[in-house]
Amino acid sequence: MSLKEQLRGLKSLAGPYRDFDTGAAPDEPASLFGVWLQDAITHGIPEAHAMTLSTVDAEGCPDARVLILKNVDADGWHFASTKLSPKGRQIALCPQAALIFYWQPLGRQVRLRGQVSELSREICEADFLARPIGSRASALLARQSDVLEGDEALDIALAEQRHLIEGDPFIVSTGWTVYAVQPTEVEFWQADGDRRHTRLRYRRAMDSQAWQRERLWP
Ligand SMILES: Cc1cc2nc3c(=O)[nH]c(=O)nc-3n(C[C@H](O)[C@H](O)[C@H](O)COP(=O)(O)O)c2cc1C
Repeated sequence: MSLKEQLRGLKSLAGPYRDFDTGAAPDEPASLFGVWLQDAITHGIPEAHAMTLSTVDAEGCPDARVLILKNVDADGWHFASTKLSPKGRQIALCPQAALIFYWQPLGRQVRLRGQVSELSREICEADFLARPIGSRASALLARQSDVLEGDEALDIALAEQRHLIEGDPFIVSTGWTVYAVQPTEVEFWQADGDRRHTRLRYRRAMDSQAWQRERLWP
């Protein structure tokens, strides 16, 4: 069987799924996001807090990778990484991003777009210090996505950083940053087995907290 035939034979969005009553949706998207995220966690979906972050580089070319959602509050949707990484450099040049969550067993997707900001040094440091020692050692390397010469170089560098942490348990990587995406668009997408998907988009102007809600064609 060719790959094309194999892919054609794979099921997608087979359902059955729950109904999405858009008439009962709240005035703003954060609380509905909270309900859907909680549903995903309660459903036992592995890594329900994993999301795709899209940014653009200096040439305007899109880039994307999976990250972990750290919090949602008045600042927006939080994620953490090092400023020195490609994504950190891209955000410094163009502080705009898109986030996508997909909870497959529920047939639900959430898309967000908006401005990215850096949170306070206190928040960044607290996030860094809450990480396990291996994650802190890796972040202290501050070489994410650089070309790796080989395993030996990595093992030596990690051992050095662990040694540093053992000597100073409160050492923090200067580049470690918690970012927040403050969305101006959030779309909730509920699959339907017959492809009569239900889509609800919240939109607001950059300088307004008044959300407009609109249904979208599937
Ligand atoms: C499930 C999952 C969770 C991840 N979480 C993070 C994260 O929270 N922060 C991070 O910097 N990278 C995380 N990564 C690694 C990123 O996908 C990516 O490889 C790395 O950040 C380098 O991206 P960049 O070269 O675009 O900067 C995660 C990867 C996966 C698959």
